[in-house]
Amino acid sequence: MILLTGAAGFIGFHTAQALLARGERVVGVDVMNDYYDPALKEARLTILQENQHFNFYKTDIADPDAIQSIMKAHPAIDRIVHLAAQAGVRYSLESPYAYGRSNLDGHLVMLEAARHCKGLTHFVYASSSSVYGGNMKQPFSTDDPVERPVSLYAATKRAGELLTQSYSHLYGIPATGLRFFTVYGPWGRPDMAYFSFTRAISEDRPIDVFNHGNMKRDFTWIDDCVAGVLGALDHPPADGEDAYCLHGTPHRLFNLGNNRPEKLLDFIELIEKALGKTAEKIMAPMAPGDVVETYADIDAAHAVFGYDPQTPLNEGIPRFVAWYNGFYA
Ligand SMILES: NC(=O)c1ccc[n+]([C@@H]2O[C@H](COP(=O)([O-])OP(=O)(O)OC[C@H]3O[C@@H](n4cnc5c(N)ncnc54)[C@H](O)[C@@H]3O)[C@@H](O)[C@H]2O)c1
Repeated sequence: MILLTGAAGFIGFHTAQALLARGERVVGVDVMNDYYDPALKEARLTILQENQHFNFYKTDIADPDAIQSIMKAHPAIDRIVHLAAQAGVRYSLESPYAYGRSNLDGHLVMLEAARHCKGLTHFVYASSSSVYGGNMKQPFSTDDPVERPVSLYAATKRAGELLTQSYSHLYGIPATGLRFFTVYGPWGRPDMAYFSFTRAISEDRPIDVFNHGNMKRDFTWIDDCVAGVLGALDHPPADGEDAYCLHGTPHRLFNLGNNRPEKLLDFIELIEKALGKTAEKIMAPMAPGDVVETYADIDAAHAVFGYDPQTPLNEGIPRFVAWYNGFYA
């Protein structure tokens, strides 16, 4: 049985569906906050709740008593997939405490849950490409130093990795952190550029093109991301001995990206093509907290659990736009 946090979120919803499809029992937790339209979270949840193997708690992961009572109610939980977080780089400039609560306190509560979970075999959690911050070396490798976060969001995700390292070291918790790279697809996040650009262009509103379009992103199609989450989940680090384990602890970090950075302007063109409309682009300077390029080295994930992303952006964007048009029709 799997405890899945952030189950009503974008990646959590798809992960829950994939786990349920292979016959797992899933206990989902999500606080259903209004960082973006909660109706989208409710719609995802409605689909998940059609499956009798899915159990849901509307709960804040930063509440230790609430999480403890969920763990007590489900002694069969043997794996934790922790995806709940306050996401988004720009919002972390406006609402810093939301990041402290969900990503620091909440992460610690989940580690405590893992520590006291008797039959725990694996703690898998979401980190982010943003931890690479101002790094110039490309592609980003999990061996690179990550000491230069350029946003509070990035700092909290890196903190989650360090908190996990200490728990894995102290209590022998088998743990895997996944650094996701710009995940996109149906049921996605309205705050992310692919979604907000699609919405703005389809409603004939202008879009802000940051750093005058001189940006690149390694985009990951949601099904590729979920295949990576399940692959990682099924390959817990046994004993801290293998080459990917950090400092002799059973804790590993992997990049889940596409290994293919795409230019921002090419990505906008794909959305325009899929919508059959031309965007009114407002060229803007670099936004605070943003990075110019992300590019994932995915060799380690490939070597350990066969991670092999299949979907290029020119296939994924039309599929996303088709979902968008259907959902908001
Ligand atoms: N989508 C991406 O491109 C991307 C990239 C890098 C990292 N990530 C990470 O992946 C994870 C999932 O991201 P997502 O894109 O699905 O985001 P999302 O916002 O759609 O999902 C996160 C979910 O967590 C829930 N949540 C937030 N704080 C909570 C709390 N205190 N208690 C309980 N639930 C809480 C939210 O309500 C939301 O439903 C996050 O940890 C995020 O930081 C995502």
